[in-house]
Amino acid sequence: MNQMTPPPRIEIIPANAPFSDGQRSWLNGFLVGMLSLDGSAPLAPGQNGAVLAPAGDDGEAPWHDQTMAISDRMKLAEGRPLRRRMMAAMAQQDCGQCGYNCNDYSDAIANRTEPRLNLCVPGGKETARMLKALHEELEKAPVTSPSPSLATVEAAPGITAKPGRSRDNPVPATFVSRRLLNKKGSEKETWHIDFDLTGCGLDYVVGDSFGIFARNEVGLVDQIIAMLGASHTTEVRGKTLREVLISDVSLAPAPDSLFELLSFITGGAQREKARALAQGEDPDGDAAALDVMAALQKFSGVRPHPEAFVEALEPLQPRLYSISSSHNATPGKLSLTVDCVRYVVGKRKRLGLASTFLAERINPGDEVKVYVQKPHGFALPKDPKTPIIMIGPGTGVAPFRAFLLDRKATGAPGKNWLFFGHQRSDCDFFYSDELNAMKTSGLLTRMSLAWSRDGDKKFYVQDRMREVGRELWNWLAEGANVYVCGDAKRMAKDVERALVDIVAQFGARTTDEAVLFVGELKKKGRLQQDVY
Ligand SMILES: Cc1cc2nc3c(=O)[nH]c(=O)nc-3n(C[C@H](O)[C@H](O)[C@H](O)COP(=O)(O)OP(=O)(O)OC[C@H]3O[C@@H](n4cnc5c(N)ncnc54)[C@H](O)[C@@H]3O)c2cc1C
Ligand SMILES: NC(=O)c1ccc[n+]([C@@H]2O[C@H](COP(=O)([O-])OP(=O)(O)OC[C@H]3O[C@@H](n4cnc5c(N)ncnc54)[C@H](OP(=O)(O)O)[C@@H]3O)[C@@H](O)[C@H]2O)c1
Repeated sequence: MNQMTPPPRIEIIPANAPFSDGQRSWLNGFLVGMLSLDGSAPLAPGQNGAVLAPAGDDGEAPWHDQTMAISDRMKLAEGRPLRRRMMAAMAQQDCGQCGYNCNDYSDAIANRTEPRLNLCVPGGKETARMLKALHEELEKAPVTSPSPSLATVEAAPGITAKPGRSRDNPVPATFVSRRLLNKKGSEKETWHIDFDLTGCGLDYVVGDSFGIFARNEVGLVDQIIAMLGASHTTEVRGKTLREVLISDVSLAPAPDSLFELLSFITGGAQREKARALAQGEDPDGDAAALDVMAALQKFSGVRPHPEAFVEALEPLQPRLYSISSSHNATPGKLSLTVDCVRYVVGKRKRLGLASTFLAERINPGDEVKVYVQKPHGFALPKDPKTPIIMIGPGTGVAPFRAFLLDRKATGAPGKNWLFFGHQRSDCDFFYSDELNAMKTSGLLTRMSLAWSRDGDKKFYVQDRMREVGRELWNWLAEGANVYVCGDAKRMAKDVERALVDIVAQFGARTTDEAVLFVGELKKKGRLQQDVY
């Protein structure tokens, strides 16, 4: 075995500093990387932690953790320059839905090149509210030339982007087909979706995501029009009201501006309630469940004018999906693996916008507005010989199907190990025929499976990783890259924790050293995440 030597331990944070062991290790690792004390290249501008930090900004981003609550993130950013506080307001997923990563989006707002404050989809209303408050500070500040640390932040990507390469410049792609991946008995509804790109001429590399502009469900739109007491054909923004509500505005979480509008056109207790909701308060304990329709139902006697109503809504945001095909294997074709979001609140069925659009509101031959979103560091290794370990439960398998198809098409000789997991082996084993065939052919060197609901106790991918920790360590020591895709809130953290434990146990390191080691893997691009 090619044993890796532990990195020399460099202590920057004193032992008596007020941090837990984990926090001290993390900060040490971060500062070692920032200051290049380990001899590696320093972080480039635009990577986490700006290199040319202005006064009051040490370049750190300790709030950059997608599992941390916004109140804690803002606390950590207290006293920092505005752009850093704006970064702390973002959801910290670096998911690319806004068209940037969290750091660059906040820099672009602070630099006044990005006027839109509502692009952080995972941050939702909390992020939008916080950004609005911080933006008021920005508006009061005198306009100066951008700080040197912002020199690398470009104008909003869409302004210069080529067609189909940005959310601001989508192109039409043709929907080809859908196929249900779960079998009878499953609690999930996950679709394999095929698109034809030959008409729009787009291409992509594995690891990229696909942006989709979905349309709202007509039934919901018509109910809203009825609640407004309006006609489908009422003209708004040069279109019919129905067209605008289907394609241009979000009907999901009711925005503060809608409650503001409702407060202006009603009185008494209703007005007070609407005003409270507009300020982020929750007078009746139902604020989180109020989509646009539910808000109209709550204030059912109040009928905003269609023009004012549309004005008060948020624009419809695109949704991203990891591409699960390879352009090298099937040029002009693109596939996705989409988990359908459906849930019930009270008596009403709620539909996830884009997932149900792909699952049921689009027909073969229809065109959809799309774009390819480059990931922030999620790609196959440059050297095709590098072994890869892929950890992707549920729809997290999507980019790994793409990686495997690509490695097959290009004849990449590197070893491939997939950890896949889902609820039940007999009905939730996506792409089982393909993956088993890849295993038989030797393309998949190893496939490790974890079924969470087959037994009495939950069993997850990280449990399987721990079971085969010694071999996993051997692969790491041989220079394997590790990839994680899927749920951001719980799975990604738990998998990282398992990786730390494996490095500690089989790499003969203390927990602190193992945390540092895993931090190093990230910094060197050997541990990459695509989480949502
Ligand atoms: C880089 C990236 C890659 C992604 N790849 C994939 C992928 O490969 N496959 C995939 O399926 N998804 C993927 N996603 C997620 C995808 O973008 C969408 O977020 C997802 O499909 C839901 O979108 P939607 O429009 O259907 O639902 P939305 O209309 O956005 O509704 C979702 C919202 O509904 C609410 N909600 C959901 N369930 C409940 C519930 N039970 N109770 C109450 N509220 C609830 C939550 O507020 C949730 O945020 C990816 C995301 C990113 C950022
Ligand atoms: N933004 C959105 O609206 C949206 C849309 C789609 C999906 N998602 C989220 O994206 C994620 C992916 O959904 P998915 O359909 O691909 O599958 P998923 O719901 O993540 O489930 C995949 C597998 O992961 C297991 N799992 C649950 N918690 C885990 C943990 N902490 N560590 C490791 N594995 C864990 C599940 O087990 P059990 O279920 O048995 O616990 C299941 O076996 C989900 O978290 C889902 O909530 C979000």
